Amino acid sequence: MTRTTVLVTEVHPGEGEEVAQVLVQSGEIEVIAYAQDALEAAQAAYRLRPDAAVLWADLPGMSALELCDLIVRTAPEVAPVVLTRANAPDLTVEAMMAGARAVVRESDIARLPAILAELQQVRQQLPRESIQAVTDTAKAPVLVAVVGTKGGIGKTTIAVNLAVLLARKHGEKVALVDIPGQLSDAHVFLDLTPRHSFGSLAEVSAFDADFVARIMSVHESGVHYLAATGDSAGEQMARSSEVTVELASQVLAALKRRFTAVVLDCPLSYWPLASYVLRRTHVVIAVATLEDMAALRSALSLRELLLSAGLDDERVVPLVNKVRRGSPLTVEDFERVTGWASPVSVPEDEKNCAAALNEGVPLVLRTPGSPAAEVLARLSLHVLQKARLAAGMSTGKPQVTA
Ligand SMILES: Nc1ncnc2c1ncn2[C@@H]1O[C@H](COP(=O)(O)OP(=O)(O)O)[C@@H](O)[C@H]1O
Ligand SMILES: [Mg+2]
Repeated sequence: MTRTTVLVTEVHPGEGEEVAQVLVQSGEIEVIAYAQDALEAAQAAYRLRPDAAVLWADLPGMSALELCDLIVRTAPEVAPVVLTRANAPDLTVEAMMAGARAVVRESDIARLPAILAELQQVRQQLPRESIQAVTDTAKAPVLVAVVGTKGGIGKTTIAVNLAVLLARKHGEKVALVDIPGQLSDAHVFLDLTPRHSFGSLAEVSAFDADFVARIMSVHESGVHYLAATGDSAGEQMARSSEVTVELASQVLAALKRRFTAVVLDCPLSYWPLASYVLRRTHVVIAVATLEDMAALRSALSLRELLLSAGLDDERVVPLVNKVRRGSPLTVEDFERVTGWASPVSVPEDEKNCAAALNEGVPLVLRTPGSPAAEVLARLSLHVLQKARLAAGMSTGKPQVTA
């Protein structure tokens, strides 16, 4: 274990050595510098970047508050710890407001090594991924939802294959999630038998990101799958009401801690849940077919529904599935009726889609060269880029009126 490096200060001659003596006795702390006034302390913190700076509150040159603030701004990785001569509750609050990580009374100085060790532990527990998720937009987790107003149009096919492509082709850590509200069946496409589900999380009072990741089923592509609710159809429908918006918000937040891309197969049947989930996603893939006029009208309703939930066209990727040459309705008809321009067009490929489903091997793994799989591969790059861009920009804005 590397030792904690500390800058100490002194107001009265010899005081710095006394503090240093207490610290080094623990065997885990190395005192790397002394400073005798506030400016010197700030300069040393900036130059040497110790893990912590132990600062007497009455260090000459500036107030302890000003000094903490200065160190936090110029050397943010240095933890300022303020030492006070007497019990001063006001000073404690103010020092914390100025960025001190701890305030310790002179009479409690024996506790200083333990406090520094604790601070260091908190800091080391922070994984690199957590920092990257905040600072590096290329690593920001993205949420992508697949929706449609009708059954049997290929929503789950798209969600499953997109998840597999994001894992395999783009190296993302991927979660595939069945949002409750329909009989979930993504596991059939992946030949998985989930033992737990979204619904199981409704039964536990509290859970963290690791817990959620642990109960998911893992596909050989690396995709982690979370089913909607229990296995039997009756149980699924009965229990989908247990999945509240609050639970969904907990689960999504947990998934964002463990995965870099979360693909949601999101039914629209329970609108409070669906609209909440959709508002939180970075990109929504709106799936439709060209079957007949009713299908096109239904796609128009979907566009209106998404707009009503605050999802403007910027965040939506319209997708027309099962496109057949020579069919009476065309992609142009889709554009005219819905007002959605240039949808992604996935060709019909009944033979390969059916075989992929029956064998439990996703299309993009089973026949990567097939026309539908090739379109999905291009879609995965487009969606990932679009979602990362959205995730790197600001978060949503609350709708408020003055
Ligand atoms: N591009 C396609 N060409 C042919 N069949 C497809 C295509 N996409 C999906 N299918 C098939 O359509 C059926 C319904 O797909 P599914 O993804 O379960 O739809 P949904 O989730 O919208 O109910 C499945 O049998 C699937 O294999
Ligand atoms: Mg489905």
